[in-house]
Amino acid sequence: MERTLRRPARLQGTVRVPGDKSISHRAALLGALATGPTSVRRFLAADDCLATLDCLRALGVEWRLREKAPGVASLEVVGAGLRGLREPADVLDARNSGTTLRLLAGVLAGQPFTSVLTGDHSLRSRPVDRIVEPLRLMGAQLFARDGDRRPPLAIRGGQLRGIRYRLPVASAQVKSAVLLAGLFAEGETVVEEPVATRDHTERLLIAMGADLRREGPGLRLRPPSSLSSLDLEVPGDLSAAAFWLVAGTVHPEAEIVLPAVGVNPTRTGLLDVLAMMGATIDVGEQRMVGEEPVADITVRSSSLRGVEVAGELLPRLIDEVPALAVAAAFAEGRTVVRDAAELRVKESDRIAALTAQLRRLGATIEEQPDGFVIEGGRGLQGARVTGGGDHRLTMALAVAGLLAEGETTVEDGDAVAISYPGFWQDLERVGGC
Ligand code: S3P
Repeated sequence: MERTLRRPARLQGTVRVPGDKSISHRAALLGALATGPTSVRRFLAADDCLATLDCLRALGVEWRLREKAPGVASLEVVGAGLRGLREPADVLDARNSGTTLRLLAGVLAGQPFTSVLTGDHSLRSRPVDRIVEPLRLMGAQLFARDGDRRPPLAIRGGQLRGIRYRLPVASAQVKSAVLLAGLFAEGETVVEEPVATRDHTERLLIAMGADLRREGPGLRLRPPSSLSSLDLEVPGDLSAAAFWLVAGTVHPEAEIVLPAVGVNPTRTGLLDVLAMMGATIDVGEQRMVGEEPVADITVRSSSLRGVEVAGELLPRLIDEVPALAVAAAFAEGRTVVRDAAELRVKESDRIAALTAQLRRLGATIEEQPDGFVIEGGRGLQGARVTGGGDHRLTMALAVAGLLAEGETTVEDGDAVAISYPGFWQDLERVGGC
């Protein structure tokens, strides 16, 4: 369904963003491997995480979901234990979710059966060679389309051996796939990261009693005989909060409060970059929710200046780049995003798509192989735009519509269901429509 937006006179209110997507996937998956029942409050009941749950059911895992509000649910998982999964009768469909496919592949590599993973048109164009390589080194057999590069991905699991593996790309999904396979391996698994990526898998595994240690740039896992179950609340998703952080910063009359947002340092790159740009963002005192730090965040209208974003910052804000690009269009001066070639293999080629769509809105943006350059300060003019089915682009373009002169129509409004089903209601709550 398409949505038409105009800039409201004020943006004001409190938005309790839904639970973190990365943590929700992991809580479901690890809960399934635990011994005993796992409870997860504020589980993200969005299409990506539902894809993980459906795959788990096809592997014989029982769970129950009670939705409290759009995208917000309580999840109970009956842990099958490390040896309790059973061979699926059909192909497993990860739909739009790279996290489902890649993390599950790590688990399936260690199972004594054969499984096949596929996904929607977008996911079938995304790389899997990055997990095929380490999981083969561990002893599993994997085959994929297009020279073992793209899904569908067939996995004949078996007895794995631990490996020492240095990640060729900074990817939490690949790191997690290797660690999850390591749960089923003989001997230790060591994963080294060139740049730190989100560490939610590690935090949960440690909470479940796994012998997992951080050693310099590496992680060392000794295979456990069992994992204890979880009783967990999921913090608000900083990647969902990102849209309100940008809307509230750029809009000239704004104050938005975002309670209980996850502020794990591997995820807070956008907060750092917005601060560098001159944003007035108040991050309240941190407290722990489950294994993760959270804080209440208040964002107010600010004058922004352009900034350079590169290197180790990228993994800490990779999913927030579409929102950041909208902020950059309103910032005085030039914003450069480099070292972000990974954006080309997300739910869409986000570098190409952002360039095309922001140009429609009148932005001066130049595409680069690994990022883009935006000459900001001229704002945006309303136009007809599309996220092309990519949820984060759709939401970033909606924010652009809240800030642009005139009327903006976003064509594929339903794509928000992938990670933020209540997005349009929350947009109304802060005064947009
Ligand atoms: C995720 C890791 C990131 C991120 C994705 C979620 C995760 O992907 O972009 O949205 O939950 O591990 P990569 O591992 O491909 O960098």
